[in-house]
Amino acid sequence: MEKKFKRIGVLTSGGDAPGMNSVIKSVTCAALDMGVEVIGILGGYSGLIHDRTRKLTEHDVADIISKGGTMLYSDRCDEFKTEEGMQKAIATCKKHNIDGIIAIGGDGTFRGATDLSIRGIPCIGVSGTIDNDITATDITVGYDTAMNTVLSLGDALRDTSESHARCCVIEVMGRNAGYIAMETGLALNAIGVALQEMPFDKEALFAKMKKMRDLGQRSFIVVVAEGMGGVFSESLTKEIEAATGIESRFIRPAHIVRGGIPTLADRCFAAKCGYKAVQVLLAGQSDVVICSRHDKIVPVDIKWALIVDRMYKNKLKDGDLDAFTPEQIEEMKALCAERRAYFEEMYEIVNSVGC
Ligand code: F6P
Repeated sequence: MEKKFKRIGVLTSGGDAPGMNSVIKSVTCAALDMGVEVIGILGGYSGLIHDRTRKLTEHDVADIISKGGTMLYSDRCDEFKTEEGMQKAIATCKKHNIDGIIAIGGDGTFRGATDLSIRGIPCIGVSGTIDNDITATDITVGYDTAMNTVLSLGDALRDTSESHARCCVIEVMGRNAGYIAMETGLALNAIGVALQEMPFDKEALFAKMKKMRDLGQRSFIVVVAEGMGGVFSESLTKEIEAATGIESRFIRPAHIVRGGIPTLADRCFAAKCGYKAVQVLLAGQSDVVICSRHDKIVPVDIKWALIVDRMYKNKLKDGDLDAFTPEQIEEMKALCAERRAYFEEMYEIVNSVGC
């Protein structure tokens, strides 16, 4: 028999991302519209453990959609990884009669959601990370805004580089994923992009810079993904100056890229995901993450999503694939190939047209 939901919880966990508020708003309004109360859990899983909650009305969320960050606050919570922490979280759910949870965040958030689902609290994950590093979904909430922020910063750096005939090496966040660096590199006309997913040819970069300088070009932008490491980015800046004679500056915008007004794309995607999350939760699904696949918003099994992520990152452990059918494994392999092909194609374009 289908479970009757009376009250659900919503939380944001891990690094915040612009657009999280739009998910919260959408979840709250959709659930209330469907006759279900909403409890906001403050500070991610740690709020669930320590019973920090507030009831949400439409009015509470009416004015949050244009704000970055998360009105529910966020946390990276090690205590939740322990059985004791988990049991405290379940006790909070029982105390407040929370029948299910929508958890917004990245892969760590989804691991927590699956742990809760196994223990009888139905959970639905919604992506919220600027890194776009969840293999199961084509895009994540926050990614578009982060890229647009890098774009504005990069354009400003172009102006001053042009005045001073300089190169700016910009290191952008993304943890171990090069998506932000790749896309913004193309959009900023970077002469070079360095990211973990692809080999990087320093000598080719130096040669291209010298050629462009000899043609009269004054300003240069190089984008480096955080995953390459801070030492790499800073020493690359010095090496560029030494090899080309072009004065160079290193810029790390860091967390600036995680804040700011969410873009239209992020707000709309977030709103659709929030709505879908409520729909599938109330329809009786659990342990799924809401993904975008080829422009469709679809629920994907969280365990499948976590394992395809490991497969893509070459981090599969013995037995990881045991629970999946040959068809599911083939699907995982095809998705990993799709992601790798994206980087290969983009890298070729960036290296061909960036100057
Ligand atoms: O996952 C989002 C992210 O901003 C990464 O890009 C970055 O590596 C990390 O979080 C920074 O984490 P913290 O906010 O804990 O410094």
